Amino acid sequence: MSEFVPTIQKYPDANAMAQAAAQSFVELAKKAIATQGRFSVALSGGSTPAALYKLLASEPFVAQLAWSKIHVFWGDERCVPPDDPESNYRMANETLLSHVGLPPENIHRIRGELAPQVAAQEYEATLHKFFLDAPVARSFDLVLLGMGSDGHTLSLFPGSDATKQEMILLSQGTQAQQRWVVANYVEKFSTWRITLTTLPVNAAANVLFLIAGADKANVLQKVLAQPPEPPLLPAQLIRPTNGQLLWMIDAAAASLLDKSATEGQA
Ligand code: 6PG
Repeated sequence: MSEFVPTIQKYPDANAMAQAAAQSFVELAKKAIATQGRFSVALSGGSTPAALYKLLASEPFVAQLAWSKIHVFWGDERCVPPDDPESNYRMANETLLSHVGLPPENIHRIRGELAPQVAAQEYEATLHKFFLDAPVARSFDLVLLGMGSDGHTLSLFPGSDATKQEMILLSQGTQAQQRWVVANYVEKFSTWRITLTTLPVNAAANVLFLIAGADKANVLQKVLAQPPEPPLLPAQLIRPTNGQLLWMIDAAAASLLDKSATEGQA
């Protein structure tokens, strides 16, 4: 696998990082809408992106976005109803979607209330239809990602079946044959999740990791510093084929990184 060098931008704190991410979101959306007439974004769950979503729902960012031309998807979802406190949809709806008047048909929710396999198949069909069943050529204009302190991203947790399958396909060079969406049982939480596989993420035009907090420093150093051949942690499986990969990190998460590894903002 060729040497892959992601871009890493460091910010003084999580707020500065969220501001930069909001600016990037607006720039990417404007460009996609100008060239394609629409902007497709897969939102991340967890807690980190909430600050970004709140910024996008407020001035000056909210007025800069043609919300009727924006299509919102998710990178993963917990297998819970949309009003459950654990729901990634609920978090995005409370911080962003309910404030910006997105047409309902532009919100492509993963129906976590369904049986896991059914939810995965339904969401995968939605993605194939939206992206016109392109083999792998293009998927989202932007995928937002977070990372857990165990190196998981999306709901690809270390040692889970979906991650094991990713590693096998990678070793065989047959990633193109895999599903776009799978149901994945997560032992550490004793629960099912619905998750994108790396295939549609690595086919995206832009992938943006948002990483904040000292609790991520140790794993971030491993993910970024250690030559991932083969990748040992799920986050290392994210390598856009033709798209851009950008890591936005705050100083606390970057504390163990070699200074030369990051483009200084902090
Ligand atoms: C989820 C996310 C997950 C998240 C990481 C980091 O459903 O939880 O998709 O991959 O990005 O767990 O979460 P924090 O931002 O809360 O640290």
